[in-house]
Amino acid sequence: TKTSIIFDLDGVIVDTAKFHFLAWKNLANSIDINFTEKENEQLKGVSRIKSLEKILQWGNKELPQEKFDSLMQQKNTEYLSFVDQMTQDDILPDVKSTLDFLKSKEIPIALGSASKNAKRILKQVNLTHYFDAIVDGTVVTKAKPDPQVFLTAAKQLDCEPQNCVVFEDSVAGVQAANTAEMLSIGIGKTSVLGEANYVFSDFTEISQNFLEKLLNQ
Ligand code: BG6
Ligand code: MG
Repeated sequence: TKTSIIFDLDGVIVDTAKFHFLAWKNLANSIDINFTEKENEQLKGVSRIKSLEKILQWGNKELPQEKFDSLMQQKNTEYLSFVDQMTQDDILPDVKSTLDFLKSKEIPIALGSASKNAKRILKQVNLTHYFDAIVDGTVVTKAKPDPQVFLTAAKQLDCEPQNCVVFEDSVAGVQAANTAEMLSIGIGKTSVLGEANYVFSDFTEISQNFLEKLLNQ
């Protein structure tokens, strides 16, 4: 059986998590809500709408729909101003060599992201051509931890879920992969991503030997 690999985008392929954090923090502070890195951790992998709902919950605030929509748009405008400055230097360490290695082995590769900006970001850092399937926030109706995003990607690659490996930096994403019965590999801290089958701090920690084993299991 052939293994396929599904990558999350934000925080796995590119270092955009810091931009999301900045933009959410500015938004929260503008409506007098305190926003910490710990809260931000709970927004990773979470859709734009759900993220704002959570921030308002934490701050005990309710907003009329119109204000809610305009804040969400304001956040995205600020976020995109960072994204548009990105270069290939914003690709996280050893991600590109990992993609090259998988390509050389003719391994099907998919993107599984909650972001509606995914295609724009891949294009900005010149990685689009690596992906055989792109399943993003414009396609998915059920947010992580629902497995829909990864199951859709598996289907598009024509791969059984049990033969898929998922790289994820968010708790919600690791849970989604586990629920999909895929092998989950956390990128980040073991203290946060303990539910993953394996955790590495980043791709520099993942040896070619380990990748070979994943492909041959
Ligand atoms: C996820 C990020 O990948 O995408 C979240 O981890 C983000 O922080 C979500 O909110 C939605 O992204 P976007 O680009 O559609 O606002
Ligand atoms: Mg992520």
